[in-house]
Amino acid sequence: MRIVDFSDEDPAVVLLDQRALPHRTEHLRLTTVDALVDAIRALAVRGAPNLGIAGAFGVALAAHRHPDDPAAVPAEAERIARARPTAVPLALGARRALARLDDGPAAVLAEARAVAADAARVNAAATTRAADLLSALHPDGPLRVLTVCNTGELACGVGGTALGAALRLHERGMLSEVLACETRPLLQGARLTVWELARAGAPHRLCVDSAGPAAIATGRVDAVVVGADRIAANGDVANKIGTYMLACAAARSGVPFLVVAPEETIDAHTATGDDVVVEERGPEEVLEVGGVPTTSPGTPVFNPAFDVTPFELVTAVVTEDRAWSPRREPNAPSAVRETRHD
Ligand code: MRU
Repeated sequence: MRIVDFSDEDPAVVLLDQRALPHRTEHLRLTTVDALVDAIRALAVRGAPNLGIAGAFGVALAAHRHPDDPAAVPAEAERIARARPTAVPLALGARRALARLDDGPAAVLAEARAVAADAARVNAAATTRAADLLSALHPDGPLRVLTVCNTGELACGVGGTALGAALRLHERGMLSEVLACETRPLLQGARLTVWELARAGAPHRLCVDSAGPAAIATGRVDAVVVGADRIAANGDVANKIGTYMLACAAARSGVPFLVVAPEETIDAHTATGDDVVVEERGPEEVLEVGGVPTTSPGTPVFNPAFDVTPFELVTAVVTEDRAWSPRREPNAPSAVRETRHD
């Protein structure tokens, strides 16, 4: 299944439109940067690593559309990089592809394809490490894993991240069930995670977000496994709204709380969670479900897309390179990078 791809003929960025899932499988062919930026903002493509891949292909699109005017491409790349503020990989992917502009549009596209290929390699290493760690934490038998949002291939490229770790357990016969939080308001858990789990034949149940902490407190969960959009240098984790309450509940009950993400998500230029720009989205996402109003018209809304989990609540950040426990190894020097993400 093509989730994020590039078509040379049009040229176009090709996206599986995640807004239509699980009811319809539809692809978008986006031939302008404006259309791609709109698709990113509307969450037709989403999830931190896949935003990086889409961003890189977007810059390849801009390079193909301006073969005689490459000077126009950096501004297009910057528009893509800033389409959503919280996830680190979006800007990284766009800027990595842009760095090949002097070598021509084909080189930019080759770099974008390398971003996608690298994501698959990173995901394989990180999910294997996370599955090993989870198995070691719970050697007695199959695990019950709780997750939020969607962190499978729809969000991360081949292999997924947090959901990928649960699927690696399933492949080993070590998964008892995934409890998937529905992830209000846009239901990435109910629509997308459940779809991926069902396709993989992995045992799962769906719960409302507010049932997550109760499931943890009542001994129904062996580990909480989530992704990340941005990890501050001190280990604070920005991820989908609803993550923090799961981390609080996990800490209180002594349940491991694992974050599975690419190393590039750790941003040395974001010192702590206080420095994370949390995207706030429009009120309509909260005022209705599936187009049906759920409250009084005109009700004021608070709709942050993400929250920040303090590093003290994180058992481990599992990447392709390591399992980092920020509360045991504060401000790991290897988190320091030269790239600016602002
Ligand atoms: O708003 P979304 O759907 O892009 O949010 C996605 C998440 O919060 C994921 O958990 C995160 O990107 C980490 S892994 C894809």
